[in-house]
Amino acid sequence: MQSTGEQQMVTTGRESRLIALAAAVLACLISVAPAAAQQAATTKPQMVEDVFKNVQVLKGMPVNQFMETMGFFAASLGLNCTGCHTAESLQDWSKFADEVPRKRTARAMIRMVDSINKEKFGGARMLTCWSCHRGAEVPQTVPSLAEQYTVAPEDPNAIEIVPGMPKEPTADQILDKFIQASGGAQRLAALTSWTATGTFEGFDTYHTKVPVDIYAKAPAQRTMIAHTQNGDSTTVFDGMAGWIAGPDRPLPLIPMLPGPEFDGGKLDAVLGFPGGIRQALTDWKVGFPVTTIEDKPVNIVQGTGAGKTRVKLYFDQKTGLLTRQVRYSDTPIGMVPIQIDYTDYRDVAGVKLPYHIVITWTDGQSDIELTGIQPNVPIDAAKFAKPAPANAKYK
Ligand code: HEC
Ligand code: HEC
Repeated sequence: MQSTGEQQMVTTGRESRLIALAAAVLACLISVAPAAAQQAATTKPQMVEDVFKNVQVLKGMPVNQFMETMGFFAASLGLNCTGCHTAESLQDWSKFADEVPRKRTARAMIRMVDSINKEKFGGARMLTCWSCHRGAEVPQTVPSLAEQYTVAPEDPNAIEIVPGMPKEPTADQILDKFIQASGGAQRLAALTSWTATGTFEGFDTYHTKVPVDIYAKAPAQRTMIAHTQNGDSTTVFDGMAGWIAGPDRPLPLIPMLPGPEFDGGKLDAVLGFPGGIRQALTDWKVGFPVTTIEDKPVNIVQGTGAGKTRVKLYFDQKTGLLTRQVRYSDTPIGMVPIQIDYTDYRDVAGVKLPYHIVITWTDGQSDIELTGIQPNVPIDAAKFAKPAPANAKYK
């Protein structure tokens, strides 16, 4: 790993506490000068080769994108991380480098899929792990009569624009209705900041509830701090840049790179102040068939982020409120979806905000239940500053 003074990591005597987190990453940290701290926003991304020890095929991509490919594998084969890695890996990230038979098979499969796509589909990524595996270790070979003769429930995420569908209601109408339903332009403009407390639950909290704090400032600043058993897990979007610092991440501080990470961070921040929704994305599109979420009909609008991220927003037909967003992150092995569900809308200074947020992606699910939101409180600018690298304290 090169130590060019451009790394995003600071070494401020935290090294010793990081050892338990990621021995594989530690070597990188120690070599970094503290002066590098200021350069965060312009740093080069940490690449697979800089950080991991035994990656033979999935090279040349940023660490975060590599982790998304791991989530893609887990989703495609219906396996946890330890399905292809040793059990110790969860405590000690360097063990993810160990070889196990399934990992070798997976590597051979990556090569197989790549060559079929090249030879048979002109290099287009038509075949992925999901095409064959569909959530099973060994793909089925016999047609299922049960599937043939029953109608599977519709997956709202799978709904796409149908050519020739009437473009009514228009994107403008749906977004207008959302703004009205959220409280109307005037009340929305009067809400300029809020702070929230509640609980957070996910794989990184062993599926128990821990306290969470959220700080939000219009138009697009948002910080969430989940106080996990292993230390704080912090996600910051400061309006121009974003970072994730969590004890369960491969690196203690990960900048949101241009593309899906940045676009997602920005969208989540903007949605804290629904009046700004039109500015959050561009290239709005409708033409999706109506579908349902929890038996309630929803209209879908698609938008695109500055980094070309495709986002689908699902609005409850009756209430007009946003019930789901699905955004897509492209990786060399396939498109990875992230879904965020919003429920339990309550009144905050005349504005409807969701008190229950569930984030679902291929690597896990986080469940955030707010207990209180305080509108229009002053928030120290430091809350939106680049967070310190995560402080891992494995127990
Ligand atoms: C279907 C099998 C499979 C699953 C499931 C899987 N991985 Fe992997 N993992 C691999 C393969 C294959 C490689 C090596 C890739 C290569 O050589 O290009 C790898 C490599 C890694 C590495 C790099 C380690 C190093 O230093 O070389 C990490 C870290 C990792 N995986 C983490 C995870 C995590 C976290 C999960 C769960 C979200 C996961 N993996 C799920 C197959 C899998
Ligand atoms: C063209 C269909 C196809 C695609 C695409 C495919 N696989 Fe497979 N995969 C199979 C078949 C068939 C088997 C079972 C082989 C056997 O049992 O001998 C298998 C087995 C595996 C196994 C071993 C499972 C076990 O029994 O322990 C792993 C791991 C695996 N695949 C990973 C992947 C990954 C990762 C991808 C995407 C990069 C992928 N596969 C894409 C067809 C496919």
